[in-house]
Amino acid sequence: MSGHARLEEILVSRQVILVTGKGGVGKSVVTAALALRARTLGLKPLVFECDAPARLSLLPKGRPASDVVEEVAPGILGINQKSDDAIRDYAAASLPSRAVADLLFENRIARLFLKASPSVTEMALVGRIAILAEKHGADGPILVDLHATGHAISLLRAPGGIMKVLRTGVLYERAKRIEELLQDPVRTAFITVALPEELPVTELLELHEKLEELKAPQGPVILNGIFKDPAPGIADDVIAHLSKGPLAAKNAAKDLAGLRAWANRSAREEERLRAKLGASKTKPPIVGVPFLFEDGKNAELVERIAGVLGERGGAS
Ligand SMILES: Nc1ncnc2c1ncn2[C@@H]1O[C@H](COP(=O)(O)OP(=O)(O)OP(=O)(O)O)[C@@H](O)[C@H]1O
Ligand SMILES: [Mg+2]
Repeated sequence: MSGHARLEEILVSRQVILVTGKGGVGKSVVTAALALRARTLGLKPLVFECDAPARLSLLPKGRPASDVVEEVAPGILGINQKSDDAIRDYAAASLPSRAVADLLFENRIARLFLKASPSVTEMALVGRIAILAEKHGADGPILVDLHATGHAISLLRAPGGIMKVLRTGVLYERAKRIEELLQDPVRTAFITVALPEELPVTELLELHEKLEELKAPQGPVILNGIFKDPAPGIADDVIAHLSKGPLAAKNAAKDLAGLRAWANRSAREEERLRAKLGASKTKPPIVGVPFLFEDGKNAELVERIAGVLGERGGAS
């Protein structure tokens, strides 16, 4: 199955799709583009961000998400989940009443203690995701825009961490259900994003290995920002010749040489990613997204990326 078809299959069938990758590789624009694709496929997706900084919506005709689930663009739901709220809900699930949880949470020391306890913040977040998946899963996927790479791993490890400490009881059972959800290839998929650059590709390959280890069901890898040589017809020696000419030609030659070096690096890293993933156990397909010049208009960029993700028979 091509990467594009696989992506489509995942969008229509999964309840939870977690988007992850190194900082700045395009996780948020890809998540937004996936939401547009899901909407085009007749679904009502929910974009889940956690403690995201305030910014303009990445969705066309969109508005920033608040801390409750609401429509953030036509046919698309969104929430910017505050981790404090999630922890409060999580505490409430283990205490005799909501009032006791609120009381506990009002206490600064108790709050700090809760937040510092291993896995609590992560469990609280995946707990929220699981609850939302139950509520909204039938309408469309929850698209989780995760923080940088380590976040996916700590979310995946959180239920196991809790289960080791508790061994029984309500929270143990809950952690078990959540671990099952995160590892269930029928309900969940992890989509990883990388740029065709050395560090992001290396980090993605490490992430891929860890996801395999943790039995996380993997969707396609999105290779974002692929850059092709803008003038493949101009040979290197022509550029070298131009660089010895008058100033304007010299500058043009320098620009072209720079763009070619960028394109070569992009091709090299794409090749490396394909070779390594192809030799891995799960062999996830790669969906390529070109580098798109968009003048800082992110909603338009997202619309174009959604178009690329939906291309039938595109490079995969
Ligand atoms: N295919 C693309 N072509 C051109 N620019 C892109 C492309 N993808 C992303 N960008 C730009 O790269 C920047 C980073 O994208 P984005 O915010 O989605 O990354 P991120 O992985 O979510 O970052 P963070 O780790 O900070 O959350 C944005 O300014 C976006 O406009
Ligand atoms: Mg982001």
